[in-house]
Amino acid sequence: MLEVGNLTVRYGKHVALDEVSITVGAGEMVAILGANGAGKSSLLGSIGGRVRPEGGSIRYSELDLLSLPQHELVERGIALVPEGRGIFPGLSVSDNLALGAFPARARAGVVSNRDEVLALFPKLAERRNQIAGTMSGGEQQMVAIGRALMSAPELLLLDEPSLGLAPIVVQEVFAALARIRTTGLTVVIVEQNARATLAIADRAYLIQAGRITGSGPAGTLRTDPAVVRAFLGGAAMEQT
Ligand SMILES: Nc1ncnc2c1ncn2[C@@H]1O[C@H](COP(=O)(O)OP(=O)(O)O)[C@@H](O)[C@H]1O
Ligand SMILES: [Mg+2]
Repeated sequence: MLEVGNLTVRYGKHVALDEVSITVGAGEMVAILGANGAGKSSLLGSIGGRVRPEGGSIRYSELDLLSLPQHELVERGIALVPEGRGIFPGLSVSDNLALGAFPARARAGVVSNRDEVLALFPKLAERRNQIAGTMSGGEQQMVAIGRALMSAPELLLLDEPSLGLAPIVVQEVFAALARIRTTGLTVVIVEQNARATLAIADRAYLIQAGRITGSGPAGTLRTDPAVVRAFLGGAAMEQT
């Protein structure tokens, strides 16, 4: 469904992605795991139309995504939740969600969509009228994901949803992501928190210094000694 081929992203002389290739099947939840600076946001941003790659291809259900502007990607059902969330802090939870329904594809189903989002995140239902900027980090992340879901996506791109959250809150956000997985939505999630992510994803790719260095079913990677050393127990994952 999604095919990224030999993607290269460069910032000046710095090569952030070096011929990266990944595939994601319809309905899969695929993780991209890597440390700070590995190139995760560059990869996700390329798929979501925020980063312009120098070379390679991104195909999604017959479409050449690199030839489409970002607003067109949203209309085609591709929703990106960026690092740092990007919610409207001065607006209520309800208004943030309502603004997510801006694409033409989402307008007809706003009410049923909102019901689904509130069912996935019961906490948002309780806090509907709260100003988003006054919520905890985890709650704001839920608003950001909920807002993306209001655009009626087929493909949801999540950039480090656990960043800056306390472990207990990470569990809560990931429990919601596990529920999203059962809805059949296709999800690409990039994360440094390999342990929490491998617990909910179907498959994962490992990215180090702009290159894919491993991949496999999440269950296999969880017990792979090299992965455990570099991604699960080691200082590399704990530092940031
Ligand atoms: N706009 C930019 N200009 C220059 N360098 C960048 C820019 N964005 C990212 N980089 C560099 O590219 C590399 C990969 O960044 P990024 O994709 O954000 O990694 P990650 O999301 O895994 O932390 C890093 O070395 C980062 O400093
Ligand atoms: Mg990043």
